[in-house]
Amino acid sequence: MENEYPTMEIRTITSIQTFEIRHPILRAGQPLESCKFIGDDDDETLHFGAYDKDNLTGVLSCYVNNGAHFTLGKNYQIRGVAVVEKLQQHGIGKVLMLHAEKALKAKGCDHVWLNSRVIAKSFYTKLDYLEIGTVFEVPIIGVHQSFYKKLKQ
Ligand SMILES: CC(C)(COP(=O)(O)OP(=O)(O)OC[C@H]1O[C@@H](n2cnc3c(N)ncnc32)[C@H](O)[C@@H]1OP(=O)(O)O)[C@@H](O)C(=O)NCCC(=O)NCCS
Repeated sequence: MENEYPTMEIRTITSIQTFEIRHPILRAGQPLESCKFIGDDDDETLHFGAYDKDNLTGVLSCYVNNGAHFTLGKNYQIRGVAVVEKLQQHGIGKVLMLHAEKALKAKGCDHVWLNSRVIAKSFYTKLDYLEIGTVFEVPIIGVHQSFYKKLKQ
């Protein structure tokens, strides 16, 4: 899929700025407070926003975290990947993910991993993420699977 938004620009944003999209897309009907993730304001956490001109169209966040599957090196978890509803399936999520991978690689990241809703699984497998561990239930949100990608060769 080609990038359909030649005017799209990925910018570093704050955790609060992600709420504009996290809330309606990932925490609809829940209090705004539910958009706060542990580590959001840690020094090494990164938040990226996709902008079409000055309109925020998608967000994602990256946290230093070994999770359950990594013990060595520097590993990051990606969370809060979301694109505004009317612009989904137009390549914005993919551009955000590739931008984040490049930024994390520059920071010496060994592996990037994430917990995906099972319904979004092929978004990640198309970006060459591999399954790790078994499926698990996240209360309220649903069934998830962890995925990872090795960044450092
Ligand atoms: C999942 C999400 C972030 C993907 O972003 P997007 O901009 O819509 O995705 P893209 O257009 O970049 O898609 C890239 C590829 O993944 C596929 N894809 C995108 N979303 C998908 C989904 N939910 N399920 C399966 N495949 C998906 C696209 O069809 C496309 O495939 P192609 O390259 O063969 O054409 C976005 O759709 C979204 O915000 N969904 C709702 C929230 C959500 O589920 N977030 C993920 C939480 S784990």
